[in-house]
Amino acid sequence: MPKRYHVTTFGCQMNAHDSERIQGMLESLGYAAAASRAQADLILFNTCSIREAADSRFVAHLGEAKRLKREDPERVIGVGGCWAQSVKEEVFARFPFVDVAFGPGQVHKLAEFLTAESLTAQGFFEFEGFTGHLPAKRAREHQGWVQISVGCNSVCSYCIVPSTRGREVSRPPAELVAEVADLAADGVREVTLLGQNVNSYGRDLPRDRRITFAQLLAEIDAVPGVRRIRYTSPHPKDMREDVIRAHAQLPALCEHIHLPLQSGSSAVLRRMRRTYSRERYLDRVALIREHVPDCALTTDIIVGFPGETEADFEQTLEVAEAVGYDGAFTFIYSPRRGTEAATLADQVPHERKVARMERLVEVVQRRARERAQRFVGRTLEVLVEGPSRTDPTRLRGRSRHNRVVNFDGLAAPGELIDVRITAATSQTLTGEASLLASAGA
Ligand code: 5AD
Ligand code: SF4
Repeated sequence: MPKRYHVTTFGCQMNAHDSERIQGMLESLGYAAAASRAQADLILFNTCSIREAADSRFVAHLGEAKRLKREDPERVIGVGGCWAQSVKEEVFARFPFVDVAFGPGQVHKLAEFLTAESLTAQGFFEFEGFTGHLPAKRAREHQGWVQISVGCNSVCSYCIVPSTRGREVSRPPAELVAEVADLAADGVREVTLLGQNVNSYGRDLPRDRRITFAQLLAEIDAVPGVRRIRYTSPHPKDMREDVIRAHAQLPALCEHIHLPLQSGSSAVLRRMRRTYSRERYLDRVALIREHVPDCALTTDIIVGFPGETEADFEQTLEVAEAVGYDGAFTFIYSPRRGTEAATLADQVPHERKVARMERLVEVVQRRARERAQRFVGRTLEVLVEGPSRTDPTRLRGRSRHNRVVNFDGLAAPGELIDVRITAATSQTLTGEASLLASAGA
């Protein structure tokens, strides 16, 4: 019987990708996936610490792991990712049933632990930059992630990431292009480039091997077989015209930009240490709209940052109204240990944060619904993912604008087909596969 593993992932795409690498690594060690934690010999949690809610969700799950460990002490319990990194060795003091803990990306350390002679509790928390090639077990066969950098050099005052993922380290361009070529050869049609701040890519590379993010996009666009390129997240301060133009020029680069706003008030942005103002942000949006008029724009917004006044918040509402995002992730500010913002006076009371959140969500959803109507009647290229989640007689895929499309038709996952859009809500599009033209796979 092979040993079985079970992995639970919290947080962002960076973590989801680390989990794919963890699973790929485990399978190369001869482990097989378990359907539930109770059937697993190795129970792993890949944690997030971006918001308090993520911490507490995870701690609730750990309770089950504790019980299972008591039933069978041979079981191995591992905790990786940003939360583990943020509390380090404290993990073992607080949760004595944990056998191994490791920071984000330290997948090779987990392998080292599992293949060691004796398994005594151990923690691995260094920043070593990117930890090299590991086979990933992709959740979707035709979509792949490529981590182009680790760490972050910004000092956003609310964010715990700089303390959990270290300083920014870019991977060499040749290595990235080779990795994308391997993915394409393996059937991947869409790649998403990942980094804490993707558009500052390359600045830390040695001069003779330094290329900009826009140049990297062009090199990846040239890889045969890659039909779609996405990236997340860029920082508005580094959103240069060359990257925006690339969206108009490179055939594979999708018409979607996720541009985190965080706040529409320049005063709040200053205290967040975002290094751009409301005007500068809106100026980036105008440039995007000028070069790529149909580009989908999504964002992240935090409400209730310390000292946020009603007037500050209304400025955020105004920007959301004016930009008309295709979608937004909205967050209630949550103080994180060790961050500057957690020490600021004037923390906003919880009820006020919740009330602001509701008002913001109303604007965001209404504008997203309005924006989505522009797709009705158009034919969009859809990358087929599989059956629809809500109605298995239909198919589900994504447009280049990153909209989920549920549609009638016959197609295999990984195919790119044309779908005529018949209806749109703030979240999803509905349509029919067009019988005439197919973009082929
Ligand atoms: N509180 C609330 N939201 C946060 N984010 C990051 N840190 C915090 C925090 N302390 C949000 C930001 C970021 C997204 C990934 O999470 O909007 O862009
Ligand atoms: Fe991802 Fe940030 Fe959570 Fe780390 S803290 S897993 S980088 S969302």
